Amino acid sequence: MKSPGNRYHGLSIGLHWLTLVLLVMLYALIELRGLAPKGSVLREGMKTWHETLGLTVFCLVFARLVLRRLFDAPPITPAPPPWQDKAAHAMHWMLYTFLIIVPLLGWLTLSAKGKPVPFWGLDWPALLSPDKPLARTLQDVHETIGTLGYYLIGLHAAAALYHHYFLRDDTVRRMLPRCLSRPRQLRRAAGRPGLPGSPE
Ligand code: HEM
Ligand code: HEM
Repeated sequence: MKSPGNRYHGLSIGLHWLTLVLLVMLYALIELRGLAPKGSVLREGMKTWHETLGLTVFCLVFARLVLRRLFDAPPITPAPPPWQDKAAHAMHWMLYTFLIIVPLLGWLTLSAKGKPVPFWGLDWPALLSPDKPLARTLQDVHETIGTLGYYLIGLHAAAALYHHYFLRDDTVRRMLPRCLSRPRQLRRAAGRPGLPGSPE
């Protein structure tokens, strides 16, 4: 199906930006945990929220993938060269894979540690029986790929901003809510009668 207008579906847009907010929060919680003493309630709480928000991202990515199957990505105007399309496509699928693999590794880590897997007051089932050396390895892989996420997301955001500010195409506007997706001149003019985009 075609997305309405030349934008992503409203739900896809909402989930895209909600995922960004959740990632900022869960990264901040885990990076700043060192500020609280080891074993303190605050530190354990920060870890629990990191895990809960991570599993939330994990659930949301499947909703995004369903929407992505139902609605085609809207074309970019003016169309970028094919190599850029291919690079963007590869980057998007790397990001989706990241959003599935990293939380899954976190879930496996807690399972192998024999710890509860917290999700908004519920405990998810363990995927493995306790195994300390395996838990260590899984945590290392989780942390490494989790850290790689900074570069992946940074590159993705930089490419989007390059399209917006230098190539001046509609790449970013397609991913913004309707009220923000019109060019600035049209939004400004919307309040002034007689100018293009203004109400009659
Ligand atoms: C997209 C989601 C996630 C991202 C990007 C992410 C990222 C990270 C990063 C970067 C670290 C290491 C921080 C450092 O090096 O100091 C970390 C640690 C950790 N994460 Fe995640 N994580 C996510 C989801 C989860 C989930 C869903 C769980 C568990 C259900 C989890 C469990 C853990 C654990 C147990 C640690 C080690 C904390 C410690 O013992 O100090 N993470 N995560
Ligand atoms: C400031 C940060 C961000 C900006 C400016 C941004 C911008 C955009 C834009 C403009 C698109 C549409 C690109 C296109 O069609 O070629 C897009 C798509 C996408 N973004 Fe982001 N993004 C940001 C953060 C993130 C984060 C944190 C994630 C997840 C880790 C993410 C995952 C995705 C994915 C998977 C798509 C592909 C959507 C699809 O076609 O299925 N983005 N982003």
